[in-house]
Amino acid sequence: MKILITGGAGYIGSVLTPTLLALGHEVTVLDNFLFHQNSLLDCCQYGGFHVARGDCRDETVVKPLLARAELIIPLAALVGAPMCNQDKVAAQTTNFDAVAMLCRLASKAQWIIMPVTNSGYGIGEKDKYCTEDTPLRPLSLYGVTKVKAEELILQRENSISLRLATVFGMSPRMRIDLLVNDFVYRAVHDRAVVIFEGHFKRNYFHIRDVARVFVHAIDHFAKMKGKPYNAGLDDANLSKSELCAVIKKHLPRFTYVEAPIGEDPDKRDYIVSNARLAATGFKPEWGLDRGIEELIKGFTILRNSVYSNV
Ligand SMILES: NC(=O)c1ccc[n+]([C@@H]2O[C@H](COP(=O)([O-])OP(=O)(O)OC[C@H]3O[C@@H](n4cnc5c(N)ncnc54)[C@H](O)[C@@H]3O)[C@@H](O)[C@H]2O)c1
Repeated sequence: MKILITGGAGYIGSVLTPTLLALGHEVTVLDNFLFHQNSLLDCCQYGGFHVARGDCRDETVVKPLLARAELIIPLAALVGAPMCNQDKVAAQTTNFDAVAMLCRLASKAQWIIMPVTNSGYGIGEKDKYCTEDTPLRPLSLYGVTKVKAEELILQRENSISLRLATVFGMSPRMRIDLLVNDFVYRAVHDRAVVIFEGHFKRNYFHIRDVARVFVHAIDHFAKMKGKPYNAGLDDANLSKSELCAVIKKHLPRFTYVEAPIGEDPDKRDYIVSNARLAATGFKPEWGLDRGIEELIKGFTILRNSVYSNV
């Protein structure tokens, strides 16, 4: 297919783009390279790879790229609550207005597959699994902009929304602000973590399975379209303390303690069912253990040591 990915040079895009190219798709990435990332250099070898440096909010930039696309994957966003709170106007215009513009400019026949954070579930009911029918109650501006964008794309004819759990795993454009990545990074380099509100449950999904779920959605588009799908690991609805226990299995010198005072500004606490996605035939390949082993290797290579001799 001819695919346009906005934000395709980000954490997810830098794994998804080469995956789609290797399958023979023609991929155009529009990105403003906000993080000065060079994560798509390996993609330049493909004749079917095209790249545009620009802003996904600029209609004059987006319109000609959109005209050639059969499928649009909008990844461009200010991602995460802290980043959105730093620039609320950019969060609204990038996460919502740019998606609204795509919906306005795209023809009915063009497909859209968009990832949304499952943090939209906010604070779940104790021991009750959130399904796609559970009301969305996002807690942060990030969650609100993503949930509103999902509402819009699901109103059009040919769209799928993937409600991703917190993603983990190595990417050429690495993020160590994501929970599993962050804890493993600290376990490797500091050997310790202080946890706030360690009983809060979250769920997780490996970045290679994220790429696989996009491919699955393309392959099963007719059957899946018009709906949102939770995408996470069924056996990884874990609290932060439980996650640390799994990391400790791999790094026995790792110590974690729960802070008796203080709170986590990120209040989300929920367990999620991925049954709807499983019923379409999707099976994840990357469990937490396999991903943690990958991260330990990655963080042996990556280290923030600009102001230190070692
Ligand atoms: N990582 C996760 O855990 C997760 C979970 C659920 C949903 N998502 C969604 O997946 C998408 C990608 O997230 P990510 O983790 O790869 O984040 P990221 O920050 O690594 O990627 C965002 C990309 O968008 C680009 N970008 C930002 N503003 C832009 C603009 N105005 N014009 C063009 N490009 C712009 C950035 O340069 C970057 O390449 C986002 O829509 C996010 O909401 C991510």
